[in-house]
Order: sequence, then C-alpha cells, then structure tokens
Amino acid sequence: MDTALLKIRIYGDPCLRRKSKPLKDVGPGERMLFKAMIATMRQAKGVGLAAPQVGINQRFFVMDIGDGPVVVINPRVTKKAGLCILEEGCLSIPEVTLEIERPQKVTVCFMNEDGKLMEMACDDLAARVVLHETDHLNGKLIVDYAKHSDKVKFKDQLKALEARYNK
Ligand code: NI
Repeated sequence: MDTALLKIRIYGDPCLRRKSKPLKDVGPGERMLFKAMIATMRQAKGVGLAAPQVGINQRFFVMDIGDGPVVVINPRVTKKAGLCILEEGCLSIPEVTLEIERPQKVTVCFMNEDGKLMEMACDDLAARVVLHETDHLNGKLIVDYAKHSDKVKFKDQLKALEARYNK
C-alpha cells in the first residue's frame, strides 16, 4: 500500500510561526506519520521536512541528504563550529532561495524513531539541514535571515504566498 502524502503548509500559514512542543512518546501513530513525512519530502524532492510544515507543532523532522532517511525528534544542537554560506530553499516557501551563513559543523542530540537517544556529528549539507529544520521547530524561516536587498527582491512573491493562504 502506498503511504498517503501530507499537505505541505505554505508561507502565511500560522503553523509555520509557532514554537513547537517536545514529542513525548513514539508509538505506532507517530511511526506512520514519520513514514508519511518521508514520502511527502521525497515526492516534493526536498532534503528535509519539519512537523510544523505538515501542520503539526511538535518537535521533530525528517531528513535525507542522499544516504537514507533519518527521523530526528526533540533535537538539541550541542556544538557548532565554523561558518559557511550556502543557498537554501524551503518547501514551504516555493521559488525563494537565499544565501545564508550558518555554522559549517554541528553536533545534534536527538531521539530516533525507536525512542533511542542519538548523537550525530554533521557538516556541510547535513549541518545545514539540521539547522534549517530545527529553526522550523522554533517558528523561524529562511526569510528571517534575508538581507535587505533580498527582502526587496522577494517582497511581492511572499505577499502573493500569504494572499494564497488567506484566500
Ligand atoms: Ni524549510
């Protein structure tokens, strides 16, 4: 049976701006949700998808940078090192990409889908995805990092997305 796909919430949806709450337990319902999120992320050709992006304000996300899906629950970034600039997009903000400076390496502690505590050291793209998705859990979006010229450039596009949501 195919896993049902979830609706990705778009810029303007208040879900994306809420601070999410920790996930307490992982049961069969959550595992089904993780599967659906992974399928939705793949279908949208994304490398990460956070729960608020599918309307769930709980602290978890899924990611896959090409070496298999990882479920990251209640993440805590414990180490950051270096800085690099990378271009970022977001499935909730179609057609907007921004160059953003963030740490180049991070260590993240989290719970996996089996309820096991994990520690993962990431760099480059993996670090970027961890930081981007963790931002989602705090209601923070890539546009919040935009420099003035980018804010001007994307102003109409963001307004159009908000209007689409409010319709
Ligand atoms: Ni995003």
